[in-house]
Amino acid sequence: MLNAETNQYRFPEGFWWGSAASATQTEGAADVDGKGKNIWDYWYEIEPNRFFNGVGPQKTSQFYYKYKEDIQLMKEIGHNSFRMSISWSRMFPNGKGEVNPKAVLFYNQVINELIKYGIEPFVCLFHFDMPMELQKMGGWVNREVVDAYVSYAKTCFELFGDRVKKWFTHNEPIVPVEGGYLYDFHYPNEVDFAKAVQVGYHTILSSAKAIKVYKELHQDGKIGIILNLTPSYPRSQHPADVKAAILADAFFNRSFLDPSVKGEFPAELVQILKEEAFMPVINEGDLEIIKNNTVDLLGVNYYQPRRVKAKENLPNPKAPFLPERYFDYYIMTGRKMNPHRGWEIYEKGIYDILKNLRDNYGNIECFISENGMGVEGEEKFRDENGIIQDDYRIEFIHEHLKWVHKAIQEGSNVKGYHLWTFMDNWSWTNSYKNRYGLISINLNKDGERTIKKSGQWFKSVSLNNGF
Ligand code: NOJ
Repeated sequence: MLNAETNQYRFPEGFWWGSAASATQTEGAADVDGKGKNIWDYWYEIEPNRFFNGVGPQKTSQFYYKYKEDIQLMKEIGHNSFRMSISWSRMFPNGKGEVNPKAVLFYNQVINELIKYGIEPFVCLFHFDMPMELQKMGGWVNREVVDAYVSYAKTCFELFGDRVKKWFTHNEPIVPVEGGYLYDFHYPNEVDFAKAVQVGYHTILSSAKAIKVYKELHQDGKIGIILNLTPSYPRSQHPADVKAAILADAFFNRSFLDPSVKGEFPAELVQILKEEAFMPVINEGDLEIIKNNTVDLLGVNYYQPRRVKAKENLPNPKAPFLPERYFDYYIMTGRKMNPHRGWEIYEKGIYDILKNLRDNYGNIECFISENGMGVEGEEKFRDENGIIQDDYRIEFIHEHLKWVHKAIQEGSNVKGYHLWTFMDNWSWTNSYKNRYGLISINLNKDGERTIKKSGQWFKSVSLNNGF
């Protein structure tokens, strides 16, 4: 609704305002209270030089110790909901077996504290952090890891499901496929398309199986998945460019979106995998499980568009097989950039995703589960009072929210907007290079928290339910 006087853009009542974060990126305490190693702890041990400024995952933002202060700050900046993730290797140091009581205590305290402040916990079970013991068995390549994951998920539902009513099986599941098995930015740093396909397939299977278990427990909540639905735009309407965009979309978006929402895989992708002899191992009964256990709720992460064009050169037949055999990336002249991160800003992309979900995915209930602006060297925007003057972030959020609002007016079933992220955190191999938070962290002052200008602005948006 457009409301002329106070708010120009008013959002539906009960709209979810908040942010998202993940365990490995915020908790710290990586080897404390019985936590087992995950792939990040291990990779940092053997190759610290792969991480920006050599900063690893051991301490991150100390949420493990400062969660009370942090949750108060969330309240202070108007959160009514917050997505966190549970660290699998904190819960199960070996990935399976005995649950770690100190982890149960910690997550109970965090969940209770959020609820005490009227902030609904949204909980994700897997955010890039495979327990190392399971990675030694092959990680998602090994089907036994699917079973270990389902039993970990079941334990979490049983322990926390009386209070947690929104669960997510995975965060951006295409990313561990890309990072770990195609493009070398997650451990185990392999470049192996066959494994990548098997990992993707097992991840989807694990999601469907966890959904099945959740439904069997009748816990009266919702379960979904968080996907980074980077829209693929063709350079032109030439059929070859359009086809390139369709295939990029099939590889990177529909590979997870279709099975998660429709219970089936995109025909274009299956055809390529068959033609190229890369079909994964599928056991009898799997496809039925995937078909019958789709998500209730979809989280949409959106940062930037993917622009593609038809391939201009023949691929090197000896190079490893990568999806880029089917398209080239295209740089659009005049694109708007985030100069502090080198990513394109295209606000309408968020609307295009929501429209696609409305028209082609049964208008499934969804929310923007991540959107945000990374800024390198953000300290230079700190003023004499110690406040980061991040007007660029305010503008970024504001412009995206306008498109979300338009989508709502046109019937999109989008229920909320979560920013990445609450406070500056550790971004995998980029470590603390790019800052995304509504709250800054001063790593030289024991992680001191200071609300940025955007944090105050976000509060007013949440309290007014619009702007
Ligand atoms: C997506 C991921 O979920 C999160 O872990 C990451 O840090 C942000 N994007 C920012 O790149």
